[in-house]
Amino acid sequence: MSDQNPTAPRPASHRSTAPDEDVAAAFAPARPDARRRYAVAGTGHRAGMYVDAITGDHAEVAELVAWLDPNPGRMDYYDAHAGRRLGRGGPLGLPRYGPDQLKRMVAHEDVDVVVVTSPDRTHADLVVRALDAGADVVVEKPLTTTVDGCRAITEAVERTGRDVVMTFNYRYAPRNSSLRQVIASGEIGEVTSVHFEWVLDTVHGADYFRRWHRDKDWSGGLLVHKSSHHFDLVNWWLGDVPARVYASGGLRFYGEENARSRGLGPRPARGTGAHGDPFALDLTRDERLRALYLDTEHHDGYVRDQDVFGPGITIEDNLALVVDYRRGAALTYSLNAHSPWEGYRVAVNGTAGRAELEVVERGAIAVDDEGRAVLDPSATPVAAAGQTLRPEGERLLVQRHWEAPREHPVPAGVGGHGGGDAILLQDVFRRHLRRSDDPLGRAAGYRDGLRAVVVGIAANRSMQTGEAVDVASLGLALDDEDGHDRVLAGRRGNA
Ligand SMILES: NC(=O)c1ccc[n+]([C@@H]2O[C@H](COP(=O)([O-])OP(=O)(O)OC[C@H]3O[C@@H](n4cnc5c(N)ncnc54)[C@H](O)[C@@H]3O)[C@@H](O)[C@H]2O)c1
Repeated sequence: MSDQNPTAPRPASHRSTAPDEDVAAAFAPARPDARRRYAVAGTGHRAGMYVDAITGDHAEVAELVAWLDPNPGRMDYYDAHAGRRLGRGGPLGLPRYGPDQLKRMVAHEDVDVVVVTSPDRTHADLVVRALDAGADVVVEKPLTTTVDGCRAITEAVERTGRDVVMTFNYRYAPRNSSLRQVIASGEIGEVTSVHFEWVLDTVHGADYFRRWHRDKDWSGGLLVHKSSHHFDLVNWWLGDVPARVYASGGLRFYGEENARSRGLGPRPARGTGAHGDPFALDLTRDERLRALYLDTEHHDGYVRDQDVFGPGITIEDNLALVVDYRRGAALTYSLNAHSPWEGYRVAVNGTAGRAELEVVERGAIAVDDEGRAVLDPSATPVAAAGQTLRPEGERLLVQRHWEAPREHPVPAGVGGHGGGDAILLQDVFRRHLRRSDDPLGRAAGYRDGLRAVVVGIAANRSMQTGEAVDVASLGLALDDEDGHDRVLAGRRGNA
């Protein structure tokens, strides 16, 4: 299982082995009559991970029963794909629905769970309607992009009492779980501050400027769309809730005006067919991208490969934040979307020492003789040099006051996103079969989703006003119902 987006860095091959026992839980065998019925809402790139799970590793506990998407071509693609995976010798022939027919789909197809993998701006509407129709929900990040979306989802959960699973896959990457273990153990004491820098490279980072993500109304900008992963990690690592956000940022590299001011001449409006351009994504060079987007474009006009230096981009590519947490820790965070390498650095300062996590997901990108970006790091001299000085990998160092640093071992994961996706999927589809509770508390619900997006939403407000934003002023229900913070409880238990 991998992230099938060809622009994303690939996990190193050693991580595609069986996971260590302490990162992957033990599950009881499934009862043969207990398969839950799943519908997929949003049949684009990300749906693939869930479709493959339901037709593969989790077929004994899950069954696909319907597709929902405005684009019939993409539903056809997955129907044929699922049919192949299940060895049907042709398409699966599942019923297809448009976005307005969600209620009817849940009733007619007796859907237990709706998997929401549609563009960010549509999440709240789909989640609320699925809950009201009587289904549980598995929703991709970000939970939603607006305060109104947060409120609507909160009210729908309270109204229906149904379950919303937030798929925060980054929590399941063993390196991120390991940092949580280090903090929870009390080894570095009480956390006083966190410094977190994430850099996206000129291939993967550029991808957010090619399609709907580039429009703030659709994605909430990178602080909602992308950084909600990172803010969730900090919330979870600290077992705390964000209280105040100040943000600064801008579009300083991508976009028409920046290109013009740097002297870039006229460019093709899209990457397909463009020559000699490392920023171009040619949909004909990847079978899956061609089938999912180019061949289906005539249905809805969704252009997947727009020029990153074209007009109409309303999101930022350089972002800096200060976030105060309720218990007193401060987070300084930055995101850059045009870096020559991809990865992240986190430093956690505590009253007894410091932990530092460094991750290189892709050390360099080179350009081939035809001017195209080359993603395979071993393929060119430039990238090979990147491998030597900035090798792909991860390192977690822990240093207590008056002691030498020690390297905290990071266990192997499996699959994409730092080895987390496959472990996440076990929790999504087999959580009811877990033999014991997860000591890491990785499974996330809608409230974790709220606590993550609220940072990006407050940051967007801060960038508009130039002032810090009190999270409480947004009026969202961020506390667990019983007033008990279960992440903090885990921390106390382990300390
Ligand atoms: N966790 C991760 O690491 C990760 C990775 C990739 C994407 N995602 C998330 O998955 C979601 C989908 O991303 P993607 O890259 O697959 O996008 P995509 O554009 O490839 O696919 C989105 C699909 O939703 C459909 N759609 C549009 N409006 C809809 C509506 N109202 N109802 C139902 N379907 C609708 C589109 O036609 C398309 O088929 C996003 O929210 C994204 O943030 C998460």
